[in-house]
Formats: sequence, structure tokens, C-alpha cells
Amino acid sequence: MNISIIGTGYVGLVSGTCFAEMGNDVLCVDIDEDKVQKLSSGTITIFEPGLEVFFERNLRKGRLNFTTELLAAVRHAEVIFLALPTPPAEDGSADLSYVKGVATNIAKLLRADPSLGYKVIVNKSTVPVGTANAVRNIMTQQDLKSGLHFDVVSNPEFLREGVAVDDFMKPERVVIGSSSKRASSIMHSLYEPFVRQGNPIVDMDERSAEMTKYAANSFLATKITFMNEIANLCEKVDADVDKIRVGIGLDSRIGKQFLYPGIGFGGSCFPKDVNALKRTADENDYEFKILNSVLEVNGAQRRLLVDKMLKHFGGSFQNKNIAVWGLSFKPNTDDVREAPAHIIIKELLEHGARVSAFDPEAKETTQAVLGDSIEYTDDRYEPLEEADALIICTEWHEFRRPDFDKMRNLMAKPLIFDGRNLFKPKDMAERGFEYYSIGRPHFQAIPSANTAFENEQNINHN
Ligand SMILES: NC(=O)c1ccc[n+]([C@@H]2O[C@H](COP(=O)([O-])OP(=O)(O)OC[C@H]3O[C@@H](n4cnc5c(N)ncnc54)[C@H](O)[C@@H]3O)[C@@H](O)[C@H]2O)c1
Repeated sequence: MNISIIGTGYVGLVSGTCFAEMGNDVLCVDIDEDKVQKLSSGTITIFEPGLEVFFERNLRKGRLNFTTELLAAVRHAEVIFLALPTPPAEDGSADLSYVKGVATNIAKLLRADPSLGYKVIVNKSTVPVGTANAVRNIMTQQDLKSGLHFDVVSNPEFLREGVAVDDFMKPERVVIGSSSKRASSIMHSLYEPFVRQGNPIVDMDERSAEMTKYAANSFLATKITFMNEIANLCEKVDADVDKIRVGIGLDSRIGKQFLYPGIGFGGSCFPKDVNALKRTADENDYEFKILNSVLEVNGAQRRLLVDKMLKHFGGSFQNKNIAVWGLSFKPNTDDVREAPAHIIIKELLEHGARVSAFDPEAKETTQAVLGDSIEYTDDRYEPLEEADALIICTEWHEFRRPDFDKMRNLMAKPLIFDGRNLFKPKDMAERGFEYYSIGRPHFQAIPSANTAFENEQNINHN
């Protein structure tokens, strides 16, 4: 099938590449000329494990192409996906200007050339309830004179950065919101190869499909936040959140995922989607109390480690060298949008710290935001030289089994603030570190000890 994707960011590039991998002929559009130039010449623009192999293969086979021309995309395909940004507006609602702007332009093109024929406009961006209808209205206004044939479908995307290729190739479910049999049948035939193992394509109306995406992200954000509050209480009552996590996670009604406490959720989706759902509730005279609490608790959680550090250092980081491990909002991505690490670094700088940081993939994306306000290193041990403390913000695999002797020798003080609970507190004390984590007991460091211990796995796969 011929497919066009408008917007070639994290969602658009993954979707387009995976559709091409399944044998479709895909044309991706972006207004960013530099991005299109890079992608056309074989340079991938995001870090996403497993994507590059598919990208290169399909580019070579001619099934994946890139352009800045919207008309080319409209001409190319019957199915046009919108994978455009929906960033938070000032009032917290989703900014729909990208989606509405492109819909207007598509309608104009269709009107100018009726031979372009029937189109399915698929909303893959995360958009508030009612957006499919709004897009339909925009198209219809343009449609008055020409009698255009089109349908608008809501097809929210549930992929997780870091495992996006797997998520797209084998989705747990595909949600299709459509009131048109014709569009539904096209969408089914497009997605059937992705659900051959039996996962469902769930059909519903457009409004419910739009709500499903917000409900999913807000529920997951709530689950993380609940666990963060349990962790905070654990610290006060001398209980160990790790044990509680296992104890409740084995209950199948609760499940094991998203129970890892930390320094709050970030990323391009959870904060913006929780805010947007709250905004939808406000606009409809419904006070969504849980969401208000989730946002409030998450804001505080992102400051938690800085507060612990300030307490340790007596209220200031003046003349302190602070090492940071992890800059992306989660492992296996270079995405730093709303990354807790960035929020923490800004706090550190405000309190006078000198910051040196390492991240396996998010150096460039961080540089684009924080510039030269911090030092960037290419090795995990480099920032530790003469560091007064290490703060761990992202649970990349390579942080889980470091050489602790080397770390202790490099650092001015063997002091770690771990926002991801990578190590066991007692083990760290025995290794000679003063070690603070989230929701677990704190042990006094034993100066000369040096033993190897198992690390633990933890990850919230949002
Ligand atoms: N990133 C995720 O993990 C994820 C997951 C599920 C859903 N979503 C949703 O998908 C949507 C896209 O997210 P993203 O992370 O891919 O965003 P992104 O910012 O990475 O990509 C958006 C792309 O659209 C391009 N663009 C902007 N205006 C354009 C225009 N007029 N014409 C053509 N291209 C244009 C931008 O240049 C950019 O490349 C959002 O609504 C987001 O909430 C994201």
C-alpha cells in the first residue's frame, strides 16, 4: 500500500520505517529541510535501538523516501498519517496548530486538484477528544465547492521510545477510531500484518480512541506517582520500597511494571498528556482530582534528590563538582524532552555547582538545550574525577555494573545520590560509599570495604 507520513520525528520516522519494512511504499514529509536532507542521504536523525537496520534496508530498496513537499505526499498515498507535534500550550492544553495547519493545507491541495481522489487522514498524534471532528470540519470547510472524498480516522500510537521498533512491529493492540466502514477496512488491511500473532485491532469511535490514549498515559503516570509516594513514606517509616514493590507486584491485579520509584516521570508524553487531560476535564467542568495530585507530586519528586543533596551539603553547592550520569529522560533514547536530569541540572547550577555529565546517547540533544553551561564527557568515569558527588538520573545498562574501586579512587568524596535505585544500599555502604537512593534505608559507609555485589534491574518502560 502507498502511505504518506506527515511529521518525521520519533513517531513518524518509526512508523514510516516499520510500514516500509512490512512492504508498503512510504513517503515521509517534514518541514525541517535539514532533517529531510539527512534522512534522504541515509543519516538517521534519532537514536532508537533497531531502527537503523530497517531504515537503511528500506531506503536502499526504495520503499522509504523523504520530502519537504506536502503535495508529493498527498499525491503519493490514499492513507495520510499525521505524526505532528502536539506540544503543551501555555494553559496546559495540547497545541493543535500543527495538526490543524496541515489539515487545512491538505484540504486546499485536494480542492485544487480533484483528481487526487479519496484520502484517509489518520491522526496518529496524541490529540484531545474531539480533534478528529475538528479536522473533519476543517476539511469540510475546504470541501464546499469541490465535493472531496475523505475520511478522518483516529489511530493513537502507543509505542515507547527505546523499544519503539518492537512496539510498532508487534503492538499489544491497535486502536482504530473510525465511523467510516471504508476507512476502517483500509486501516485493518494496513495493520493486519502487524498483529498476526493474535493481538487485537480494537475498533471504536473517534472520540473514544482519542480518550484511550490519554487514559493510558495518565494511568501509567499515576501508577508511577503512587509508587513514588509509597517510597517517600517508606523513608519516613524505615521500610524498604524494593520489598514492597515485589510484594505488591506479584498480585496480578497490580502487575509488576511501573512500580519503580525514582525522580519522577518525564519525557515528551506523560507530563504533556496528563496536563492536557486535566485541561480537557477543566473545560468540561470536571475536577479530575487524581491528575492534579499526580502533577503536584511529580513536580516535587523531580526535586527530591536536589533537596537531599542540599541537606547533605548544608544548603549550597558552591565550589562543588557534581557528576551526572544520564541525561535522557529514560534509557535507550536520546530524547531529553522534560528529562528529570535537565530539571535537576538546572537546580544544581542555580545553587552554584559545577556540573560534568555523561550520557551514552543524549549528549548532542542535551547540548542543544543546555549549551555550554555544563561539561560533557564521552566516558562514564570522566565526570567522576575530583567529583564531590555523583547523581544518577537515568538507568542506562552501563551504569549498573561500574568499577566501584575506580569510582571511589577518582571521586573527591565517595558520595552517590541515585535517582534510579540501581544498587543495594547495604552493598554500597560495604563498598565504602555514602549512598542515598529513593525509598530505601540509608547505611553508613564502611571506609575500606570492597566487595562485588549483584545489581538490580529496574526500569519503568514508558
Ligand atoms: N515520542 C513518543 O514516544 C510518542 C509516542 C506516542 C505518541 N506520540 C505523539 O505523537 C506526536 C508526535 O510526537 P513525536 O515525538 O514524534 O514528535 P517530534 O517532535 O519528534 O516530531 C514531529 C515532527 O513533525 C515535524 N513537523 C512540524 N510541523 C510540520 C509540518 N507542518 N509539516 C511536516 N512536518 C512537520 C517536525 O519537524 C518534527 O520532525 C505527538 O502528538 C506525541 O504526543 C509520541
